[in-house]
Amino acid sequence: MEDSLRDGTLLIDGCDLAGLARRYGTPLYVMSEGKIRDRLREIRRDFLERYPGTEAVFASKAFQTLDMCRIVVSEGLGLDAVSGGELYCALKAGVDAARIIFHGNNKTLAEMEMAVEAGIGRVVSDSLYEVRELDRIAGEKGRRVRVLYRITPGVDSHTHKFISTGQLDSKFGIPLDPSVFGTYMEAILSARNLDFAGFHFHVGSQLLDNESHLKAAGILLDIVEKVRGDFGVEVAELNLGGGFGVVYTEADERKPLSYFVDPMMELISRRYLDWGLTRPVVTIEPGRWIVGEAGITLYTVGSVKEIPGIRTYIGVDGGMPDNPRPMLYDAKYRAVIANKAGLQADTIVTVAGKCCESGDILIRDLCVPPPESGDILAVFSTGAYNYSMASNYNRIPRPAVVMVLDGVDRLSVRRETYEDILSREI
Ligand code: LLP
Repeated sequence: MEDSLRDGTLLIDGCDLAGLARRYGTPLYVMSEGKIRDRLREIRRDFLERYPGTEAVFASKAFQTLDMCRIVVSEGLGLDAVSGGELYCALKAGVDAARIIFHGNNKTLAEMEMAVEAGIGRVVSDSLYEVRELDRIAGEKGRRVRVLYRITPGVDSHTHKFISTGQLDSKFGIPLDPSVFGTYMEAILSARNLDFAGFHFHVGSQLLDNESHLKAAGILLDIVEKVRGDFGVEVAELNLGGGFGVVYTEADERKPLSYFVDPMMELISRRYLDWGLTRPVVTIEPGRWIVGEAGITLYTVGSVKEIPGIRTYIGVDGGMPDNPRPMLYDAKYRAVIANKAGLQADTIVTVAGKCCESGDILIRDLCVPPPESGDILAVFSTGAYNYSMASNYNRIPRPAVVMVLDGVDRLSVRRETYEDILSREI
C-alpha cells in the first residue's frame, strides 16, 4: 500500500507511476483508492464505531466524482455538498439524499428547490434570507427540512487567511453577537416547515493542531447552553465541520483522526454529562484528510533551462490549471522524478507550469536527480482541491483521473479534449 520502489520506479498502491504516465498521458491525476479507503475506515473505526450516535460525511468540494461518491458511501459515510452541481453529482451517483448535508453561504433559490425536492437530509444555513426562502419552498412542496445553523465561533485558526473561515469577520456563519443572535433563533424556531436540528462550525482548513477546533467546540457548547436557557430548546445535533490537516512537505506532521476528534468528543460528553443530558448526534465533515495524501499528479518534463548563477527551471506540461493552490495559497508540495526515484537527488530546480503567467510556478527549489526532458515528475498530496479546482485557463484541457488499487489501475475520469472545451460555444 505504501509508496515503494521497483527497479528504480515509484509505485503507488502497487502501480508503477511512470507506466501510468505512458499509458494515460500526462498531466495525470492518480488517486489511490486503497489510501482513500484506509482513511474512510479510520473514520469508521476511530469515530463512528468508537462514539455511537455520530455521523461522518465527506466534503465533496475536496474531490468529487461519481466514482468517489460511491467509494465514500460504500464505507458508510454520507456526503456534504455546497452547490447544485455537487448535489447533482451525489444524487447521480446514487447517494441517498437523506445522507447529504447541503451547505453554502448563499444558496440560490434553484439550489434550495433542488435540495428540498430531493429530500435532503440537512441544510446548514447562515442567513435569514435563506431560512425564509427555504421555509417557503418546503411549504410549497409539502416537505419538512432539518436545518442547522452555522455559527461563526470567532476563532482565528493557524492557516492561510483565504482558507480560514471561523474568525468573527467572515462571510460564513451567523453572528453570535447578542444584538442579532436572538433574531436568527426566532426566525428558525418560528419557521413552519423547518425543524431546527442544531449548530455547525467549520474553523478553517489544513489545520495541523487541534487547538482551534477545541476552542470552537467550547464556544459551540456555550451557545447550546444559551439556547436551552433563552429559548428552551434542546439541541439534537452538533456538526464540527472538517479542516483536519494532512502532510504536504517534510515540515508537516501526520496526525491521526483521533488527535482532532477525541478532545472535542471528550469536551462535548463532559458538558452534556454536567447538564444531566445524553450527548446529541455529532457529525464531522472532513474533505482533505480523506483524499489529500491519496493523490499524486504526474507531469512530463519538457524544457530544462538553466539560468547560470540564478536557477534551473524545469517546465512541465501542466501547472496552475490543474493545481492553482501554489498561486492561491502559496501552497508547498513535495515531488520526485518517478523514473529516477532510486537515484541521488543533487540538483536544485524550480518547477514551472506551462501557463502564460510568471506566477505559474508549482514548486521552488526542489532537489531532484539531474533532470532531462521526458522525465516524469510526480507531485505528492494533490488529492484534495486540485481536480476539484482545476480550470481551462489558456484553454488547457483538464487531466484524466486514474484510480489505483492493489496493483490494478482504472480510468475514472477521461482526459478533457479540445472539443470538450468548445462544446458549450454557440
Ligand atoms: N465543511 C465545511 C463547511 C467547509 O467549508 C469545508 C471546507 C469542509 C467541511 C472541508 O474542509 P477540509 O476537511 O477539506 O479542510 N480550496 C482550499 C480549501 C477550502 C476549504 C473550504 N471549506 C484549499 O485548496 O486549501
